[in-house]
Amino acid sequence: MALSGGIDSSAAYLLLKKAGVDVLPVFIDHGLMRIIQGKEEWEHIKEMFPDVMIVDIRDEFLPQIFGEGDAEAKRKLFKKAYSSTFDAIIRAEKCEILVDGTILPDLEESFGVGMDQIKETMSFEEETALREAQKGKGFVKSQHNVEITYDVEATVQPVAPLTKNQVRNVLEYLGMPHHWVYRKAFPGPALAARIIGPVTAEKLTFQKKIHDLVESTVDKYYLRKHGKAMIINEKGEQEPFQIFAATFEDAEKSEVTGLRDGLRTYDSPKIVSGDWDFDKLVTEAREIEGFNRVFYLLGGQETGTFDAVIRSINSIDARTATITKLPIELLNDLKDKLLAIPEVRNVYFDVTEKPPATIEYV
Ligand code: XMP
Repeated sequence: MALSGGIDSSAAYLLLKKAGVDVLPVFIDHGLMRIIQGKEEWEHIKEMFPDVMIVDIRDEFLPQIFGEGDAEAKRKLFKKAYSSTFDAIIRAEKCEILVDGTILPDLEESFGVGMDQIKETMSFEEETALREAQKGKGFVKSQHNVEITYDVEATVQPVAPLTKNQVRNVLEYLGMPHHWVYRKAFPGPALAARIIGPVTAEKLTFQKKIHDLVESTVDKYYLRKHGKAMIINEKGEQEPFQIFAATFEDAEKSEVTGLRDGLRTYDSPKIVSGDWDFDKLVTEAREIEGFNRVFYLLGGQETGTFDAVIRSINSIDARTATITKLPIELLNDLKDKLLAIPEVRNVYFDVTEKPPATIEYV
C-alpha cells in the first residue's frame, strides 16, 4: 500500500488494518517532501506508523527532475518514478493487490468524470469507456497515481468515493490524534508543485526552508488562538485547509495556473501593493481578467534571489477554495521572518480564490 502520510492514504491504511488485511505500507522518499518543524516528512510518518517501509529513491529521482520546468512534465516524472518503484516492490514482495489513497476529487479532476456518472453496477469495461469518452475534453491536472496498471490482481482504492472532509471524519472515528486528522493536505508532486519553473537543488533547499517557516508559524498562530492548527469555520470550511509558500525566480514575470470553465490555464499574476484591504483585494482577484491571480506585495529587499509567495486557503474538499483572512500583523511577521533569509527578494500574499486560480501553482 502506498502510504504517503497524507490523510487519504492514512485512512485507507487504517481501514485495511481494521479489516485484518495483511498489508505492507510503503513510503517513497523522493526528496521533494516538505519539512515541518524541522523534521522531514518521513520522520513524522515513521513516528505515526512505525511499521512503514521507507524506500529512498532520492539519488535516482532528483537528477531526473532537476532542470525540469514544465508543470505537466514534472507530474509525469513523478508518475513514472512512483509506478516503477511500486512495480519493483510488488515483484519483490509478491504482492497480490495494490492499495492507494485516491479520493474523489483526484478522479474527477483527472478524468472529468463525476462520481454521479459512475454506477456500482458498471463493469470495468463500461467505466473505462466512460473515462475514455471524457478524454480529450480536457482535465484540470493529471494525477500521479491514477490510470496505472500494475502486475497485481487489482488496484483497490478504499476511500475513492470520499472527499477530504469525509476522510477526516473516518480518521476521527478511527481514533487518530487531532494533529494527524487535521494535517494540511500536500500534493502528490510535492514541492515540485511549489517551485515555479525549473527545479534545482538550490531552489529545493530554499523551498523546504520557506515552507517550514510559513506552515509552522501559521500552525502556531492557530494553536495559540484556537487550541488547534485547523478549525472548521462558520462556512463549514477547514481553515486553513492548506498553508504554504511557493518559490519563484521572478513572480511578476512568471506564469501560474488558473481555472476557467473547468480547465487549467496559464497566465501571469497581477502584482498589487499599497493599503491592505483584505475584502477589496479578494474581490478584485475574484473578478480578474487578463491575469490568473492577484499577488499582494508585503515587502522586499534588493539583494535576494527568489520571490516567496504565501498561499493560505480554506476549503471543504479542494474543489473550490477561499482565502484565509490572516491578520496583517501575522502576514507582516511572516514577511519579516522571510526577509531575514538572505535569498528572499519579494514576499507576496496570493489573494486569489479557486476558481479563478487553482490551489497550487502548476
Ligand atoms: P489544485 O492545485 O488542482 O489542487 O487546485 C487541488 C488539491 O489537490 C492537490 N494536488 C494534487 N494532489 N497529485 C495529488 O495527489 C497532484 O498532481 C496534485 N495537484 C494538486 C492540491 O494540493 C490541493 O489540495
